[in-house]
Parts: sequence; structure tokens; C-alpha cells
Amino acid sequence: MRRIRGGLGAWSDGDLEGALENLRPEIEFVTSGVFLGVEPVYHGHEGFRQFWHDFRDTWEQIRVEIRDIVEGEQRHYAVVGQFHAMGRDGIGVERPVGMVFVATADDGAVAGFLTWTTAGDRTAEITWMAVRADLRGSGIGTELVAELVDRLPAGTRSLLVKTVSDRDGDPGAEYSQTRGFYLARGFSPVAELDIWGPENPCQELARPISR
Ligand SMILES: CC(C)(COP(=O)(O)OP(=O)(O)OC[C@H]1O[C@@H](n2cnc3c(N)ncnc32)[C@H](O)[C@@H]1OP(=O)(O)O)[C@@H](O)C(=O)NCCC(=O)NCCS
Repeated sequence: MRRIRGGLGAWSDGDLEGALENLRPEIEFVTSGVFLGVEPVYHGHEGFRQFWHDFRDTWEQIRVEIRDIVEGEQRHYAVVGQFHAMGRDGIGVERPVGMVFVATADDGAVAGFLTWTTAGDRTAEITWMAVRADLRGSGIGTELVAELVDRLPAGTRSLLVKTVSDRDGDPGAEYSQTRGFYLARGFSPVAELDIWGPENPCQELARPISR
């Protein structure tokens, strides 16, 4: 919990050195592809410094306000917050943001996380998700999605996620594994979108939520 507060606090305070304290030197930072001017992958602390500038310099102000952190069973943590941002053009962005973290048993480091937001009253969307590279394939991604489904607001009927599509050819093993992961967790393709530029065809998947 201390690491989560520290990492999010450093991000909100614009404290790059504080953010780096929470990141392993060999971090591979894979971005969502949603933001223009941001590379798909950044490596190590130097890469993260570059990401920090590439991403933050386009914003006048950017902050995540933590409203609640709940500790669940088996080292699961759920965060509810609000994303506040102001672009250099003066346009403000306000979004509810949720996060789920799974920590490792030995040193409590973050093993995987996802971020999500609401899209209307009955729909939620996973906006970003990653598991530490050396721990992939051991069930952490499945735990993250299950924890989120348990914590979705009452009345939520569907959960969306976007990933890179294979409609223009195979984009690489990592993406087919990711799509396989979502298909095996109950998601089905619902739309092909052109929102990430011609090099990143986007597929939207959805999973019904019934509780
Ligand atoms: C996709 C991802 C979040 C899945 O998490 P995970 O902890 O590896 O998944 P689990 O262990 O719960 O589930 C394993 C399943 O996911 C699939 N999978 C996806 N990527 C995998 C990887 N790199 N290694 C092993 N399995 C992977 C496997 O096909 C496996 O299927 P199975 O259960 O039928 O054997 C994770 O692999 C990851 O971080 N990938 C890179 C980043 C990414 O693509 N993020 C999503 C887009 S924003």
C-alpha cells in the first residue's frame, strides 16, 4: 500500500525521482498506444525519464487524486480515484479512474496492475493492464480481471478492453497472446476501430457482467 501511495503521489506531484524509487531498474514500460507522441515501449530508468517528458510535457497539469484504497485478500489492492488534467490548449479532462494491483508474496513489489474507468452508467473499460515480464503466465492477469469484476459498480453490464487487432496481418506474438488472454477470460470481439493511427489497428472486445 505504501508503494502504491508513493508511486501515485510522485506521479501527481510531478516528482520524477520519487516515481523512479518505486520502479525496478530493468523496467520495460509498455504504453497503451492511446496518446500521440508517446513511444510504444520505454526501457529502464532512462526510458522512464523519456516517457515522463514525452507524456507530461503535453499537459499543463496532470494529477491522480486517490479517494480510497481497499486491501483485499491475497495481496490484492483496489484504488478508486479521479484523474484531473489540463491540456496546454486549456481543455480540461476529468475522469473517474480505478486501479487494481497484485503484489508479490516475498517483497510486496507490484507484480501486475490494471487501470479502468467507466464509460456510461452500465459500461466499464480496462484502459491499461500489465504483469511483470518475469511473472507472466502464472495467473496474475486472471486475478486482476477477477478482482476488478468483483469490484465493478452495481449495475455494470459490460466490461470493454481495446487491444491491437490482427486484421492487417499478425502484429506479433505478444499481441496474439494478449488477445488469447482476453478471449479466454470471457471477452469477445465487438468492433474494429481506427483510433490509434494506421500502424496500430484497434480491436475492441467486450465481456458481459452479470451479478
Ligand atoms: C496480457 C497479460 C496482462 C496477461 O497476464 P498474465 O498474468 O500473463 O496472464 P495469466 O497468467 O493470468 O493467464 C495466462 C494466459 O494469458 C496468455 N498470455 C498472454 N501473454 C502471456 C505471456 N507473456 N506469457 C504467458 N502467457 C501469456 C496465455 O495464453 C495464457 O493462456 P492460458 O491460461 O490459456 O494458458 C500479460 O501477459 C502482459 O502483461 N502482457 C504484456 C502487456 C500487455 O499486452 N498488456 C495488455 C494490453 S494494455
